[in-house]
Amino acid sequence: MKRLGILLSGRGSNFIAIADNIAAGKIPGAEIAVVISNKPYAPGLQAAEQRGLNAHVIQSKGLSRAEHDAAVVACLREHKVDLVCLAGYMRLISPVFLEAFPNKVLNIHPSLLPAFPGLDAQRQALEYGAQVSGCTVHFVDENLDHGVIITQRSVPVLPDDDEHALAERILEQEHIAYSEAIRLVLSGDYEICGRRYLQKGISPRRHRDTEKSRWG
Ligand code: GAR
Repeated sequence: MKRLGILLSGRGSNFIAIADNIAAGKIPGAEIAVVISNKPYAPGLQAAEQRGLNAHVIQSKGLSRAEHDAAVVACLREHKVDLVCLAGYMRLISPVFLEAFPNKVLNIHPSLLPAFPGLDAQRQALEYGAQVSGCTVHFVDENLDHGVIITQRSVPVLPDDDEHALAERILEQEHIAYSEAIRLVLSGDYEICGRRYLQKGISPRRHRDTEKSRWG
């Protein structure tokens, strides 16, 4: 079994989607080892407790980034985590963290990167006048919303969209994309060429068709 460590700060809908997809057998060989929140009252943390998962709060207040990250890394190691998934974790992570889990930290972002990194990505897309947005799951590197892209799903921006409506529609796709990316990475069947994530032994067209039939 590959053990996932989920880091979150809030609602936790991406965490719940991952947990549901594991339960439904859509991410074979994966289990959630621990859920860690930097916010004590994060609803996602309560959802983890209700599911009987190991759930920890590691508050950042009063700690330097390096100290906080060291505590998070220690907790992930204690639970023998293989892959770290940032799921609405609203903190930058330090090089020390990335060195502890090289190419083993994923993040989801609600835009088609490299467009609209940072906060309020959906509002940025609307204000820019983008007609298509979406979500991106990527490896985390030392720069904000920047690492190698594993998968993206696009969402049209509709004329009557406000930030909330667009965010809701993107979120539906996030819930599919994150589990898909975790499954792909856990398969180990990929290589990274420069910035490109390439699934091994499967042509790009075949890959797209396989994913389409699996995830809809
Ligand atoms: C999601 O939309 C996620 O993409 C975004 O926060 C939300 C968390 O929702 N993350 C970022 O903006 C990171 N830059 P959730 O707590 O319901 O999963």
